[in-house]
Amino acid sequence: MVSFKKSGLIVATSLLLLFASACGGSGSGGNAQEPANNGGKQAEQSNSASNTTTENAKDTTAESKQIVLGFSQVGAESGWRTANTKSIQDSAKEAGFELKFSDAQQKQENQIKAIRTFIQQKVDVIAFSPVVESGWDTVLKEAKDAGIPVILTDRAVDSPDDSLYKTFIGSDFVEEGRRAGQWLVDQFKDSTEEINIVELQGTTGSAPAIDRQKGFAEVIASNPNLKVIASQTGDFTRAKGKEVMQSFLKANKKIDVLYAHNDDMGLGAIQAIEAAGLKPGEDILIITVDGVKDGFVAASEGKINFIVECNPLLGPQLMQAVQDVVDGKEIEKRIVTEEGVFTSEDAKRELPNRKY
Ligand code: AHR
Repeated sequence: MVSFKKSGLIVATSLLLLFASACGGSGSGGNAQEPANNGGKQAEQSNSASNTTTENAKDTTAESKQIVLGFSQVGAESGWRTANTKSIQDSAKEAGFELKFSDAQQKQENQIKAIRTFIQQKVDVIAFSPVVESGWDTVLKEAKDAGIPVILTDRAVDSPDDSLYKTFIGSDFVEEGRRAGQWLVDQFKDSTEEINIVELQGTTGSAPAIDRQKGFAEVIASNPNLKVIASQTGDFTRAKGKEVMQSFLKANKKIDVLYAHNDDMGLGAIQAIEAAGLKPGEDILIITVDGVKDGFVAASEGKINFIVECNPLLGPQLMQAVQDVVDGKEIEKRIVTEEGVFTSEDAKRELPNRKY
């Protein structure tokens, strides 16, 4: 692995240790793992409109100060998202917070509904990963007026008023796009032939789709032979990635490179490429973003040539930020996740250690 910064694992581990001392040290049953009066079974409620569950709820008579966190997740569209959800749920449990978790099924209206429900429920902190960048100002003002701090995780909003949220924890998606572009520029630095690139974009209007396209375009512009001949959304899903790649293959005789904004779309595209009788990774070079296990398997088989990592394990950093906000501490307005890049060779070596 070519590491741009030190592994986030060290940061995550120290944060977990911090939580242990901050949240679990009291003699009054402040241990995150302590079972509630129902024998340790977590309370779970279901709300069909917002698909909301309540986890880690404790008996409030036994412990009155448990922090309540409302979290609105984008959905379950990719392996990355599944790992991100698990990280948040596990870390909330570890920190001893009550987590009200809502799955928006990739719909902004569901996220807005969930945030309004959290406001009504008077949670201590609201966190969410915004499915798209725009259209949040009204609901964020409602949270602010109710005195409930908001934390953005994974994806940003484009609101000019940054007083509407406390911090944004997540990757630098423009940088991820640049890393993908730089690898390609390096591959073709001595080549004089035209290289045709197709791009599978993430969800239209989402921060990672906008930024990964931008960073990639910025870097490949240094070599006029590198041409993006088609670019379309695959909505970050495997099924859509396959479908769109099929149409790219039909419409274009010569495709040299696929740049997919996530592993899942790349994996779907690999199916389409193989069905067309071509060899992924050889006939068409493939670059993806994320670095989930299935992506690593494909890379270790030589089907994906280069993966730009996007770290989904944001739970520990989020819980630390929640605790800090509740404690009234000043926190950084932007917390950037640390990540690396992997070639097929790196992936082969790293695969056994991959956690998600
Ligand atoms: O916002 C992060 C992106 O969302 C991941 O790259 C993608 O896989 C996910 O669905």
